[in-house]
Amino acid sequence: MNAIVNLDKTYTGFSIKPSEQYPERLYELAFPKATVDAFLEATAEWPVQALEYKSFLRFRVAKILDDLCGNQLQALLIDTLTDRNSGALLIKPEGLDDVSKAEDMVKFTTAIAHLYGRSNYDAMSGQYYARFVVQNTDNSDSYLRQPHRVMELHNDGTFVEQDTDYVLMLKIDEQNMEGGDSLLLHLDDWADLDKFSNDPMAYRQMRWSAPPSKKVSKDIYHPVFDLDVDGKPIMSYIDQFVQPANFEEGNWLTDLSESIESSPAIHGIRVEIGNFLLINNHFWLHGRDKFTPHDGLRRELMRQRGYFTHKKTLRNPAQ
Ligand SMILES: [Fe+2]
Repeated sequence: MNAIVNLDKTYTGFSIKPSEQYPERLYELAFPKATVDAFLEATAEWPVQALEYKSFLRFRVAKILDDLCGNQLQALLIDTLTDRNSGALLIKPEGLDDVSKAEDMVKFTTAIAHLYGRSNYDAMSGQYYARFVVQNTDNSDSYLRQPHRVMELHNDGTFVEQDTDYVLMLKIDEQNMEGGDSLLLHLDDWADLDKFSNDPMAYRQMRWSAPPSKKVSKDIYHPVFDLDVDGKPIMSYIDQFVQPANFEEGNWLTDLSESIESSPAIHGIRVEIGNFLLINNHFWLHGRDKFTPHDGLRRELMRQRGYFTHKKTLRNPAQ
C-alpha cells in the first residue's frame, strides 16, 4: 500500500497495519483490551441514551478516546479516510465480541466517528445510528434485510439531502451465518470508471426516491457522478432508488449496474462480531454477499453515516 500513515511507528493505545484481507487498500486498526476497557471506564457515566440526548457528548467520548491514544488517533483517522488510495479501515476493538456488549460497541463506534466527523440523523431509527436485525425470513421493501440474495454495490445517502462522506458498518451479532461477507469496490479499480464517468449521462440530474421503510418522503435530484477536490470522479449511486426519467437513462443505468456487479475488483471482507468497517462513501461502493438460508439465522448490524468535519473530498460540498 502507498501508505499515508507511518506503518513503522508505534502508536499509543492502538496499532495499524494493512489488512491481510485486502492489503492494497484496507487498513486494520486494532485497539487492545486495555484501551477499550479504559475508554469504557472513563465514559461509564454516559450510557448510549446520554449520547442520543446530548449531541455534544458524542464529541466528548471521542476526545476521551483520542486522549487515551496519545492524541495520535484523530489525525490518523482523518488522513486515512480522505486518502484516495485507501479511505477504508477495518476496526477491531478487543473484547467487544458478543451481542451482550452491544451498548459498548455503539459507544465505541460513536467515539471513532466523532473524531473526524458527525453522524447524520438516521430517519429509519430516529437516532444518529441505526441498529437492525436480519433474520431468515423477511418481508421488507428493500434488499437491506433480505438474506438470500446479494445486496448490490452502492453508495449510501443517495436519497437524503445531508452530505454522506462516510459509512460505518458494525457487526453486533451473527448466528448460523454462512456467507454474507461485506463487498467493497474502489472506483479506481473498476475498469469501466473512465467509460461511465466521461459519458454525458454521468452528470445528468436524476431523481432518487426511497421506499416507505426509509421514512424519507421527499425525492431529491443529483447526478450519479461528481468530482473530488483533485478532479477525480466520485459517485452517489444506488440501483434500487434511482428513478430514470426515460428509456435512455434506464438503459444507461442498466449498463452501469451490470458493469459494476461484474467487476473482478470486488473484494469480499469478513467482519467479525464487534468489528466494523469504516469507508469513504465517495470513492467506495459497498454491498453484501448472499447468505445460506438457515432457520436459526440471526444477524444484527449497526450503521452510522455522516459528514467529515475536517478535510473534504467533494469539490462542491453542497452537492
Ligand atoms: Fe449501504
